[in-house]
Amino acid sequence: MPLSQDRLLVEADAEAVAERVVDRLIEALSAAGRRPLGLATGRTMEPVYAALRRRLEAFEPVVRGRLLAGWSSFNLDDYIGLAADHPASFHAAMDRNLGEPLGLSPAQLRLPDGGAPDPEAEARRYARALAAAGGLGLQLLGLGENGHVGFNEPPCGPGVITRCLRLSAATRRQNAAAFGGDPQRVPERAITVGLSEILAARSLVLVVTGASKAPILRRVLEGPPQEALPASWLLGHPDLSVIADRAALGLEG
Ligand code: GLP
Repeated sequence: MPLSQDRLLVEADAEAVAERVVDRLIEALSAAGRRPLGLATGRTMEPVYAALRRRLEAFEPVVRGRLLAGWSSFNLDDYIGLAADHPASFHAAMDRNLGEPLGLSPAQLRLPDGGAPDPEAEARRYARALAAAGGLGLQLLGLGENGHVGFNEPPCGPGVITRCLRLSAATRRQNAAAFGGDPQRVPERAITVGLSEILAARSLVLVVTGASKAPILRRVLEGPPQEALPASWLLGHPDLSVIADRAALGLEG
C-alpha cells in the first residue's frame, strides 16, 4: 500500500516543512465541528511550534483570540516518573512551546501525567478523556528512528490502545539529549496514546525532517504495514499526509 504521490509533500528544509504543517494546523483550528488536535513533541516539532506562534501573532487580535479560545488538544505521550514541571518532561516542553506563549490553560493543552502515582490508572483516565472529547481531529506525528510514533515501540500492531509501556534502548538513546546526553537518565517507561486512537483520527500528518530520518522514512514508505515498523500502519489511513524535507527523503540539498 504505497503512499500516493499527492499525499507526500516535499519541502526544501525544516523551516518550509514547518510552514506547511502550520497551514494544516490553522485549517484544523478554524474548522467547524472540529475535534481536538493531537500534538507531538520532539525536535521535529520545535520549528513547527515556533512557526505557529509567529503565524498566530500576525493575525488580528480578534481572530487570534477566537482561534485560541477554541483550542483543545491532546498530546501523544510523556515519560513516567517525571513531574509535569521537570524540564525534560513533554509537559514542560509543551508549556514552553505553546502553553505559556499562547496563554493556553492545562484544560486546553492536555498531556498524560507522567508524574501520576498510578500510571496505569492515568493511562486509562487519559484514554477516557480523549474518547469523551470525541476522539482526535488532526493528529500531528513525528517519526522515531526505530519507526515508533508517539511512544508505540516496535513490535506493535495497529490495535494497541493508550497505555504504559517500556521504552526501547534505541529510543532512550535517541532522546538522551534532553537528559544531559545520558541514555541511562532517560526514564524507562512512558504513557502513550495507542495506534488504535491515532488511526481513528480524522487526518494524520507525519512530519519528518533531517538526513538522520532518511533510512527509517524510506522503510516506512516502502511498506507493507508491519509490526516491526509501527509508523507503517499509518499508510492504511485514508487521510494521511507525509510532510518531509529533502534531506529526510535522501535527496541532495
Ligand atoms: C519521540 C516522541 C515522539 C516524537 C518522536 C520523534 O520519542 N515520543 O512523539 O515525535 O520520538 O522525535 P524527534 O522529533 O526528536 O526526532
